[in-house]
Amino acid sequence: MPLLHRIARKRHATIAFTLDGEPRQGRAGDTLLTAILSQANAIRVSEFSGQPRAGFCQMGACQDCWVTLASGERLRACSTPLVAGMNIVTRPRRAP
Ligand code: FES
Repeated sequence: MPLLHRIARKRHATIAFTLDGEPRQGRAGDTLLTAILSQANAIRVSEFSGQPRAGFCQMGACQDCWVTLASGERLRACSTPLVAGMNIVTRPRRAP
């Protein structure tokens, strides 16, 4: 169940992205954090506690919202605009 429920920008253009291998859609003007939490209940799992995280400050200060692209690039979800085609991974990869 999503953590956020969209109440604004419902009619903005859709932006296609991939979240953990599943095709998803955000809206023009979304940050990664908004786009992800409109689809899921967490943006990542803590590498320390194993607990789900959803960001904290929402303004680029706390470092709690790092997400990873399939390419390996790490981005701060609260301050990164969603771009069409992003392939976001919220779950750690398992060793083969
Ligand atoms: S939520 Fe704090 S840096 Fe993004």
